[in-house]
Amino acid sequence: MRITVTVDGTSYTDDVEPRTLLVHYLREQLGKTGTVIGCDTSNCGACTVHFNGQSVKSCSVLAVQADGADVTTIEGLAKDGQLHPVQQAFHDNHALQCGYCTPGMIMQSVDLLKENPDPSEEAVRHGLEGNLCRCTGYQNIVRAVQDAAGKMRGSAEQPADAPAEAGAQS
Ligand code: FES
Ligand code: FES
Repeated sequence: MRITVTVDGTSYTDDVEPRTLLVHYLREQLGKTGTVIGCDTSNCGACTVHFNGQSVKSCSVLAVQADGADVTTIEGLAKDGQLHPVQQAFHDNHALQCGYCTPGMIMQSVDLLKENPDPSEEAVRHGLEGNLCRCTGYQNIVRAVQDAAGKMRGSAEQPADAPAEAGAQS
């Protein structure tokens, strides 16, 4: 079947078999190997991407279901050479050991912070419960997500180049 899907801002049209999983399409046809496979059972979350803005385990979605969709992988998160604040916070807080779970953890965390910009430790743990870290790095992962949350709230409150408020002129 022929599908057209936008991945990390680029539109791709490809022929895929009906049984092809999105994660295999991303990795094998598009070369997006930043999205990894950690299990065969939709358990580990290593393959998490954003699908029309929401995090999904890409091993539980068929590529044909992505026809017309907008997909973001870990490789599309940095903008203009700048790491996403969640990527930066994982780096700053040593929130990875082997790094295998990291792409999925980061994609899930970005989605979590969109829903809840100021999560408690418990809320972070709850939000990441579908993502497994075999290195048991959870303490630093939770710390990184809360660090990113604080920085993102800070920059939302004080935008560097905020436009003048509409209607503020007299
Ligand atoms: S590879 Fe998708 S959940 Fe484990
Ligand atoms: S850092 Fe190794 S699996 Fe999480």
